[in-house]
This record gives sequence, C-alpha cells and structure tokens, in this order.
Amino acid sequence: MSDPGSETAQEFYGRWADLYDLIARRTPTVATIRRRAAAACRLEAGDTVVEMGCGTGANLPYLREAVGPEGTVVGVDFTTGVLERARAHTSEYENVHLVRGDATAPPIPEGVDAVLATFVAGMLSDPAAAVDDWCDLAAGGHVVLVNAARSREPYGTPVNAVFRGVVVASTPPTAKLRYEDDPTARLDARIDAAHGRLRGRATAIAHETHVFGVVRLTGGKIPA
Ligand SMILES: C[S@@+](CC[C@H](N)C(=O)[O-])C[C@H]1O[C@@H](n2cnc3c(N)ncnc32)[C@H](O)[C@@H]1O
Repeated sequence: MSDPGSETAQEFYGRWADLYDLIARRTPTVATIRRRAAAACRLEAGDTVVEMGCGTGANLPYLREAVGPEGTVVGVDFTTGVLERARAHTSEYENVHLVRGDATAPPIPEGVDAVLATFVAGMLSDPAAAVDDWCDLAAGGHVVLVNAARSREPYGTPVNAVFRGVVVASTPPTAKLRYEDDPTARLDARIDAAHGRLRGRATAIAHETHVFGVVRLTGGKIPA
C-alpha cells in the first residue's frame, strides 16, 4: 500500500526532479552503490529486471548493461516528472521500458529474473508487504534493496546527526512525517521491516553497508 502522503511525494519528486537527478547521478559514492546493487541482482544476458521506484533512472544503465540488448529492463515509478527524465536518459536503449504505476501494486506479471528497489522502501506505509509482492514477482530470481537508515556503527552518533538533517530536508513535507514522528525513527522502522522481510524470504543472502553504515544493501535469491 502507498503511503497516504503519496500525492505529496509525487508533487515533491516532480518539483525537485532536476536537483534529485543531479545528486542521484553525479555523487561518486552513490554510483559505486548503484553498481554494487546491479551486480547483486545476479543478472545474465537476456534476463528481465524490474526497478521499483526507479526515479530519474540512475540505476537503469547498469541494469541494461547486465541484461544486454536481448534482455528487458522495466522501470516503475508513480511520479511523472522523474519518469520524463528517466526516459530522456535511456532513449538510446530500445529494451528499457518506463511505466507509470504504483510499486506496491506493480503492473508487472510474475516471472521476472530480478527486482531492484533503491531508496524507495522508506516511502511506503507497509514496506514488508511490498517486499513480499516483489519476492513473488521474482520467485526463482533475486530481489535487491538499497536504503538509507541510521548507522549502527560504534561511531554512529555524529553520522546520524548529519543523516537526520538530510532526512528532514529531503522528506516530502507531509505533516505526518515531519511533526508526529521523528522522521529518522520512522524511516529506520520501515527499512528494518523491508530488509527483514527480504531476509526472511530469501536464501543466499548478501548484506553490505556503505557511507559510514548509513546505506544498507541486502540482496537474496528467492526460492521458486
Ligand atoms: C528517493 S527516490 C529514489 C529513486 C531511485 N530509485 C534512485 O535510487 O535514484 C524515490 C522514488 O520512489 C518513487 N516512489 C515512491 N513511492 C512509490 C510508489 N508507491 N510507487 C511508485 N513509485 C514510488 C518516487 O516517485 C521517487 O521517484
């Protein structure tokens, strides 16, 4: 199910699409994480991969590279403005398709080889249920999640203070997120739920952290 603030989220990402695109593509550490995430999808030439909440499409070239010209890459997002940028960035590829839709009720038939979702689970009201659906879509294949949450490293206190500022600045301004809860605590709970559900559904689980423990990558093979 989408977060009740999803209308606001669409307006927010639509309005900030250019700036978001710049950060999403040009930050070197983030580029490394995107490469790692695509590798964790364990794709082979000719495979089909779906990215949920693809945003401006920063992961799509890595996925396209992995599946090659015979494969299929589908990006799903509910925000028109970011999809337009994703479309512009991937226009050279005939086998990258962009679909406007809800990642919690994706318009995709089961039987895909991998599902990737980066920096999306924290926006969903029931991330564990969404991960369940993604695992069903990719049964026999892989599901990979990348998300930012508070660092659990021993040196995490100053890192988390900075992280909180970033979260407040980049959270769509729903009253619910900003004033009723600490946004980082709420985010942590959603990320824990998403990654926990994936660990519960998957075998051969890979887990790594980046950026002082703030960015978590979990990938796993889903039994058929
Ligand atoms: C923080 S951005 C991340 C974009 C991209 N995955 C990346 O790593 O750059 C979150 C994206 O998820 C999309 N999104 C959030 N909830 C969604 C939902 N329920 N269905 C489809 N897209 C969603 C937003 O429109 C936004 O583009």
